[in-house]
Amino acid sequence: KRVVLAYSGGLDTSIILKWLQETYHCEVVTFTADIGQGDAELEPARRKAELMGASAMYVDDLTEEFARDFVFPMFRANALYEGEYLLGTSIARPLIAKRLVEIARETGADAIAHGATGKGNDQVRFELGAYALMPDVRVIAPWREWDLTSREKLLAYAERHGIPVEFKRAGQTSPYSMDANLLHISYEGGVLEDPWQEPEESMWRWTVDVQQAPDAPQYVELEYRHGDIVAVDGETLTPAQVMRRLNEIGGRHGVGRVDIVENRYVGMKSRGCYETPAGTIMLRAHRAIESLTLDREAAHLKDDLMPRYASLVYNGYWWSPERQLLQGLIDDSQQRVNGTVRIKLYKGNVLVAGRKSPDSLFDPAIATFEDDAGAYNQADATGFIRLNALRLRSAARLRGGG
Ligand code: ARG
Ligand code: SIN
Repeated sequence: KRVVLAYSGGLDTSIILKWLQETYHCEVVTFTADIGQGDAELEPARRKAELMGASAMYVDDLTEEFARDFVFPMFRANALYEGEYLLGTSIARPLIAKRLVEIARETGADAIAHGATGKGNDQVRFELGAYALMPDVRVIAPWREWDLTSREKLLAYAERHGIPVEFKRAGQTSPYSMDANLLHISYEGGVLEDPWQEPEESMWRWTVDVQQAPDAPQYVELEYRHGDIVAVDGETLTPAQVMRRLNEIGGRHGVGRVDIVENRYVGMKSRGCYETPAGTIMLRAHRAIESLTLDREAAHLKDDLMPRYASLVYNGYWWSPERQLLQGLIDDSQQRVNGTVRIKLYKGNVLVAGRKSPDSLFDPAIATFEDDAGAYNQADATGFIRLNALRLRSAARLRGGG
């Protein structure tokens, strides 16, 4: 028997590794993904896993795939969950699920395991993803099975089995439950469990406090092709490079912090803080280039569908037929979403300073407040308004307004 474990190299997943061997008497293959979390401990994860008797270790750089095939398609949709959350963790899980089952096939394993708790969204995302791609896979979620229900019990287990407590990673020595990738870093738990409690400034890792941000604004030019950013300030970049660049610039200007209470799929409300500098810039800029290039009704249809799309991603339905159908429509709409957006970053704000496109539908000859030389007949508006007012007038007459 063989199981593939999503392994971070931290203490919790190290305990899981040992617990799987003990409980299921199985071989454990570990999989550690680089999705741009900026973790210095990717290679150490391989050594730790080996030390703990893993039968094989996979450490894969998925950064470019993550940006190109997950983050960028999602940003074509302008996806935003509950008006605020840019889905940084949600969008990474389907990729990890995909790679988990690929490795299961490569190594002849029939089960996968992950370190998500039974209270969260992540378990749903990993498992829906895995089942969608490998229908007969067996899933082991130790947090839903074991009796290591407190920090003390976990540490005692680690000690009993000779797992060095130094296996704790940066995220695990912080008082928060954190998750990071190219798109965001998240913080939950600890003092954040009181929604009235403001996090201390030292919690935030990627962005400066707005009050410390530079006094001079910074302009950045983003070039779009089919709805994706292909160059920043004239320099052609890959999707992952675009995101790294914008994270760096945005972070410096205090862009992309949010502090929210969100609704988890499993029914509870949870409080989370997120830093998403590049994503915040990308959303604003994408809407700006769409404002020039998309037909009104096409844009409004996208806006109607967007919350549905965002919920699908949040709830773990990336590999569902409905998400794929929506993606087809969204991708199709991006054919002419080409051009350049000029943004201005200033003290936490992302301001659109200009936009231009070879595919612009904006017609100054029609829109002008000056003489339009007959491009638009203002008299046409009289009938347009009177017909649209017809039912309003009928109703008003009935109420005795006539
Ligand atoms: N609440 C966010 C979401 O559901 C972030 C989850 C963070 N996950 C974690 N394992 N720390 O997408
Ligand atoms: C977890 O429970 O593993 C983290 C929180 C979440 O998945 O929503």
